[in-house]
Amino acid sequence: MARSPGIARTLPSLRRARDELARRNATIALVPTMGALHDGHIALVRLAKRRAKKVVVSIFVNPTQFAAHEDLGSYPRTWKQDIAKLAAEGVDLVWNPDVATMYPDGFSTRVAPAGPATAGLEDRFRPHFFGGVATVVTKLFTQVRPDFAMFGEKDYQQFKVVTRMARDLDLGVKVVGAPIVRERDGLAMSSRNVYLSPDQRRAAPTLFRAMKEAAKHIRAGDDVKTALADSATMIENAGFVLDYLEARQAETLAPIASLKDGPVRLLVAAKIGTTRLIDNIKV
Ligand code: PAF
Repeated sequence: MARSPGIARTLPSLRRARDELARRNATIALVPTMGALHDGHIALVRLAKRRAKKVVVSIFVNPTQFAAHEDLGSYPRTWKQDIAKLAAEGVDLVWNPDVATMYPDGFSTRVAPAGPATAGLEDRFRPHFFGGVATVVTKLFTQVRPDFAMFGEKDYQQFKVVTRMARDLDLGVKVVGAPIVRERDGLAMSSRNVYLSPDQRRAAPTLFRAMKEAAKHIRAGDDVKTALADSATMIENAGFVLDYLEARQAETLAPIASLKDGPVRLLVAAKIGTTRLIDNIKV
């Protein structure tokens, strides 16, 4: 039977467990998560195992990255299944602080990322989000002190924000991005996919299909605006309310006018019913 990972819930126990893992200079990779683990997370754990000797997974549903009207209360929590999955992967340690450990009474510091965090994508619709992510990720990095940290590219802007932040603040962590893991029909794996009704689930892969269609036209040299407008219509016809579908420079996230401003990344966010999905692809 797979051996359960160690579980730390307080800072002193994390410190002890972390120092034990780092003995004989063993390298450590951190996979930050909010739990509700799916195959995308497992791919990050496997990548972490290839990069470092020891793997720590954090499970913490971070309240500071949710706005009051968002799904903090209903965010899926699947602790038992998560631990079974991490045990099967041979993860060494799970860091599972509670809210009072992460944000003790009187907590009053917030990391305020700029650059990619103000690119006008997620930040336009979730203005609180990257401040919350940057703050919690900074804390996770300083608590766990990993050599590497793995982030899925589904949250592409988040990946860029965290990469920039780790560099800017000399956090001593190499941020590693991992490709999106998709369901067989193309839907990007996400903990929020469980919110979808059967009809919404059937419509959801349209996001990926519409981006592929736009990418095909952009690669063929067609007008970027027209390609995006046609794909936006596809998405709306499938029942989504679109927040954005944009073509951006893959590194800076600056808007692009044509393929020659690339490498180009297409990024989308849209709501179906009350569920908001995001996705992106390379052109
Ligand atoms: O991507 C996530 O699951 C979260 O934003 C993260 C990075 C774990 C921070 O809470």
